[in-house]
Amino acid sequence: MLTLNRDSQEPIYQQIKRHLRHQIETGILAPGDRLPPTRDLADQLGVARISVVAAYDELKDEGAISATVGRGTYVTKLGDSPPLETNPTLGSLPGSARAQASDLRDLLRLAARPDVIDFSQGTPAEDFLPVDMIRDAINMVLSRDGAAAVAYESPEGYAPLREAIAASLHVRGIESHADEVLITGGCQQALDLGVQALMNPGDVLLTSNPTYAGILDIARARGVTPVGISVDHDGMQTSTLESLIIEHRPRLLYVAPTYHNPTGTVMSLHRRRHLLEIAAAHRLPILEDGVYESLSYAGSPPASLKALDEAGLVLYASSFSKIFLPGMRIGYLAVSGRLYQRLARVKRAADVCTPALNQRAMHAVLESGRLWEHLAYVQKACLIRRTAMFDALTQRLPEAQWSEPSGGLYLWVELPADGPTATELFMEAVRMGVGFAMGPLFHTDGQGAYHLRLNIAAQDADQIQEGIQRLGKAWHKLAADYAAPDRESVPFL
Ligand SMILES: Cc1ncc(COP(=O)(O)O)c(C=O)c1O
Repeated sequence: MLTLNRDSQEPIYQQIKRHLRHQIETGILAPGDRLPPTRDLADQLGVARISVVAAYDELKDEGAISATVGRGTYVTKLGDSPPLETNPTLGSLPGSARAQASDLRDLLRLAARPDVIDFSQGTPAEDFLPVDMIRDAINMVLSRDGAAAVAYESPEGYAPLREAIAASLHVRGIESHADEVLITGGCQQALDLGVQALMNPGDVLLTSNPTYAGILDIARARGVTPVGISVDHDGMQTSTLESLIIEHRPRLLYVAPTYHNPTGTVMSLHRRRHLLEIAAAHRLPILEDGVYESLSYAGSPPASLKALDEAGLVLYASSFSKIFLPGMRIGYLAVSGRLYQRLARVKRAADVCTPALNQRAMHAVLESGRLWEHLAYVQKACLIRRTAMFDALTQRLPEAQWSEPSGGLYLWVELPADGPTATELFMEAVRMGVGFAMGPLFHTDGQGAYHLRLNIAAQDADQIQEGIQRLGKAWHKLAADYAAPDRESVPFL
């Protein structure tokens, strides 16, 4: 008996799949048993046919069932996978994704196939990456510094780079000295070090909800519990913050106030001040993520929390990944007081130091001023691509709503709640050759079933047109199936 729970965050198709899988694993359904046709099962369950199709598709991808045209769908022996069906667009799906297709992160890998126009990633487009600039910088550094450029560096980082970063922070209103700047392996490591230095397993981390998926990875890896705070047009809401602090006694609050990933929102100045006031009253440290802060293309954001912080509670994490080269892995933490030394110790334990060559090359690029020219180019290109995406969505998916970011890399799209979920849409979209990131990836509590994140910068205007056209087609195809009647719970098999 299958009881569908329509209030669950678990999509309906996943519930169907889980039930079928359980029946196969426990032998209730044996190899050779025939499954009902998708339309019949959908009628029996009172769900849209696409939900059954998606459940069957995933089970097929995992090798648990197979389908033959004209004969129907059969249970196959587990582990004895039939050859994958070949899709005219995609070819066969990769084995690793097949094995764990139910995991959203793994599902995302399907979007990395060469014939998929991929809007799912968090990186700038490859055509933004200034290869010549880094080649010149590396050659110059190797000739200038010789072996020192490829030796160990101090755990705190290459001193001239720390100075250059402190100077660039100063321009943004952050008073930070070189000896308060710790070089890290990208912003991700800066966040991880902050969590490690300030939290113990079992502690609570407050974060916006939705939030950057990477902070959820860190929370999982470090055994801390993320508790979410809602986000609206003005960024993370602060009205419930005090009661959450009293209820959960968090050790740290993580927030990306400017061009938030995934929603693109900018936290208002009023909220920034309110957040700092509450944090000061409760002595709650704030881990501020400023990784998109320089990537403005329509107006300038309010001052960062770090610049407004008078209580010395803000750790500011950022990197050059989004405006220069993500593969260089150059990030930093700006922290004042005794905490700095603790962070440097954690950094040394993590990886001894960030590669000297990359740090020196990054410094050379900063000193040359070429980074700022490049940034101006990226900002302009982002604006053009954002407009292309707005136009394409207006034309191809007018049923949805989307954010209008003034910086950063993402558009946060909300699908109508009476149509397919983002995960259901993803399966169909990838088949049609377009990928995006599904909303639940960014939530502390599995919410976000009808949201998806599109990277505005990853593709050029023509690819955006084509990709959004495919997306619209996929959504309309599934939405047409959503006319089926709903029932609360139904007996099944
Ligand atoms: C909000 C946010 N913080 C941190 C990172 C990680 O940046 P990095 O590549 O510098 O580690 C990302 C990357 O997507 C991000 O979106």
